Amino acid sequence: MPELDIESIGEDLPLLEGIRTARAIRRLKPDPVPPELIRKVCEAGTFAPSGGNRQPWVFVAVTDPERRAWVAERYRKAFHVYIEPALKAAEAPDFPDAGRRNMRAALHLADHLHEAPVHLFIAGRSRRNEPQVQALYPCAQNVLLACRAVGLGASLTTMHMSFRAELDTWLGLPENTPTCALLPIGWPLGKFGKPPRRSVDTCLHWDRYSAD
Ligand SMILES: Cc1cc2nc3c(=O)[nH]c(=O)nc-3n(C[C@H](O)[C@H](O)[C@H](O)COP(=O)(O)O)c2cc1C
Repeated sequence: MPELDIESIGEDLPLLEGIRTARAIRRLKPDPVPPELIRKVCEAGTFAPSGGNRQPWVFVAVTDPERRAWVAERYRKAFHVYIEPALKAAEAPDFPDAGRRNMRAALHLADHLHEAPVHLFIAGRSRRNEPQVQALYPCAQNVLLACRAVGLGASLTTMHMSFRAELDTWLGLPENTPTCALLPIGWPLGKFGKPPRRSVDTCLHWDRYSAD
């Protein structure tokens, strides 16, 4: 791959177009991603809002292949347990195709997580013993949008929460700084595009919620 100009890459994608096409990209090439590009998407994360501007986020980018295999083995096991009932339900002929596709992609990620060149964990300092998850999701979304802008594939996952205690210790995180999201990041195998969504008109209400 030709050398990337980290400063200029991703700077010209219109914001709303980026938002509309930042779908979950779970099929990733195993090729490495320059650390400066990971730094750039994390920097976008740091521009997220947070209560009192406390900026509780901590990023841990795991790139070492053996360490990624450690995460992937646990994620895969947890995901298979989680998805099994849904896979059964998806055998029904009237199960929506989009749901089936989404499940297949999530399963692909679970089975290939070790190949994703970057496992980006977002953790956050707790406040009054409560994890500041509400501040970490805007941060994670900024990182996802920045990945979209620079052409990296990424998705937001939370399956690691089922082995979080072991993981957080393994990552060396202090006890008051739990992980809340894992973003597997890499160069996409597929293309960006508009994800299937209900029309905004089905969920936007004016002045008062109306069931019609
Ligand atoms: C809170 C949250 C948790 C999620 N957890 C997972 C996960 O553990 N594994 C996964 O593959 N995707 C996970 N996702 C991604 C969603 O499945 C994905 O955003 C959704 O299917 C829409 O995908 P699309 O934008 O490609 O249509 C999660 C998303 C959110 C917001």
